[in-house]
Amino acid sequence: MSASSSVTAVAGTNIALVKYWGKRDVGLNLPATGSLSLTLDRLGTRTTVAFDDGADDRLILDGAPAGDAATARVSAFLDRVRARAEMARRALVTSDNSVPTAAGLASSASGFAALALAATRAAGLALSPPELSALARVGSGSAARSIFGGFVEMARGERADGTDAVARALPEGDGWDLRLVVAITAVGPKAMGSTAAMTHTARTSPFYDAWIAAVPADLAAARAAIAARDLAALGAVAERSALRMHAAAMAADPAIIYWNAATVAAIAAVRALRAGGTPAFVTIDAGPHVKALCRAADADAVAAALRAVPGVSETLIAAPGPGARVVEERQ
Ligand code: DP6
Repeated sequence: MSASSSVTAVAGTNIALVKYWGKRDVGLNLPATGSLSLTLDRLGTRTTVAFDDGADDRLILDGAPAGDAATARVSAFLDRVRARAEMARRALVTSDNSVPTAAGLASSASGFAALALAATRAAGLALSPPELSALARVGSGSAARSIFGGFVEMARGERADGTDAVARALPEGDGWDLRLVVAITAVGPKAMGSTAAMTHTARTSPFYDAWIAAVPADLAAARAAIAARDLAALGAVAERSALRMHAAAMAADPAIIYWNAATVAAIAAVRALRAGGTPAFVTIDAGPHVKALCRAADADAVAAALRAVPGVSETLIAAPGPGARVVEERQ
């Protein structure tokens, strides 16, 4: 396969229903546990990689040159691709997120999944989906899952080299008409990034070991709920997994608290919906926003209930979406 001069790939973000929060190897970014997620049709990233004769890698993020830290992270990732392709050329990387990065939702998951696919193709490599997943994982653990569409399970893996720490699709969930309603809460002071927060939780939280020990049972319950298309069972797992992850982080020293007042109010609103007979379940990532898992038919009502929560500025309804894909190749 010859190297194209420019390849564009897109990837949807994914939201974990069984969270990844801890690493067994920081260098290779190997997770301490498996995780399970839903890839979304919205909130994705579109990335073009063009290898050229420039002196350095350049990153244009959402229309503007990116800062040094983001550029260095992308450049380190490209080094892996270059080593694999036995090439030395630098690249121009142009990446656009489908939500403003400032909303705090633009995710490294869709970003590194799109980058892994675009960069390998532009370098003339044709990696299999599991190989792409392992590569994307090095950029960001959650990105390993966005290579695949729909429900996805990420394996912890056992090997030291990480070749078995890859995601796979769970096709038994295909066609299940669920929605994730995202409630954007007013963003407070900048919270700690997930990489640093995981390490800090592992080092200082007395709840970390209990959190890790509970994940395999949640994974088994989530798998069974997907196979049975049982929203109440899947939602219960998702809610407890998110709350336990946050409990472990909150118990760190000093505490990591991602929530604001609107986060708590949105959790209460979803629980009130449920008490009123609408099956809806919350999940929360490393930030203050709340996502509610529900049936497609209930999504508008769930969004309306969340928009009524003081401090919720916006809601978005996302459906299950496809895995990462190439959308343009130019010679
Ligand atoms: C709370 O994948 O962003 O969203 O591997 O350090 O880049 P790194 O972390 P990242 O962490 C995701 C954390 C989470 C839970 C999840 O997506 O499973």
